[in-house]
Amino acid sequence: MQVLKTQGLSKVYGAKGGVAYHALDQIDLSVDKGEFVGIMGPSGSGKTTLLNLLATIDKPTSGTLEIGGTNPVNLSERDIALFRRRELGFVFQDFNLLDTLPIKENIILPLVLEGAKPAVIEQKLRPIAELLGIQNILSKRTYEVSGGQKQRAAIARAIIHEPSLLLADELTGNLDSKSAKDVMSALQDLNDRLSATVLLVTHDPFSASYCKRVLFIKDGKLFSEIRRGVNRQAFFQQILDALSVLGGNFDDVPFARA
Ligand SMILES: Nc1ncnc2c1ncn2[C@@H]1O[C@H](COP(=O)(O)OP(=O)(O)O)[C@@H](O)[C@H]1O
Ligand SMILES: [Mg+2]
Repeated sequence: MQVLKTQGLSKVYGAKGGVAYHALDQIDLSVDKGEFVGIMGPSGSGKTTLLNLLATIDKPTSGTLEIGGTNPVNLSERDIALFRRRELGFVFQDFNLLDTLPIKENIILPLVLEGAKPAVIEQKLRPIAELLGIQNILSKRTYEVSGGQKQRAAIARAIIHEPSLLLADELTGNLDSKSAKDVMSALQDLNDRLSATVLLVTHDPFSASYCKRVLFIKDGKLFSEIRRGVNRQAFFQQILDALSVLGGNFDDVPFARA
């Protein structure tokens, strides 16, 4: 089953007035249910633009986009907000947890907003918290837990309502290497055991090596694609090789953790 499909997806900035800039150019991308896809590319290659289009935060200049069989571009503002809340989960670099609430309240927020019953909420919370290894910190405040724990809580919040697609933007960007490893292997478990469909944008070859497929973009175009075999270490090396072919500027890459 296909979760995401784009055809000829393009974004041109500054078409009115200034010089037109093709930030994304004719992207054809298909993601099946249960896939774990990474998007890499040098600074300015269009990663954030792509993620914003998929996240329905921004609209394409041309091309089509379907998520869970719906083209969000045609929806009203109100329906887009609802679509985003139901079909998508988001994880950001800086966690975006509410510091005034305990971890548990942060995680269940999407269900509370949907008006779910407390028993249903508990039932959904337990297995996810266990899978992510955060069952013992649910009553803690955000300032009492580590960065890796915060990001795993953010992942739990992003998937507790079972979205079609989990989108992550540089989710290990603020983590040390040990926490990055914990977060990526937790995400891998989610993908393996719950068949959660994950698409993440990252500068970091180590994080990307947990994906099953990595797409490289350059100058707004799809440049190449590699698939992981059984060995993550070997995939890490393949990613480094692909990045060196890709060239370009990776100013904020925390390189070389195997
Ligand atoms: N709102 C905007 N207006 C004009 N140009 C933009 C805008 N957003 C991004 N760009 C340009 O589009 C290109 C791709 O940007 P972006 O998607 O942020 O790249 P990345 O996330 O890969 O670093 C860059 O050259 C950037 O300067
Ligand atoms: Mg970016």
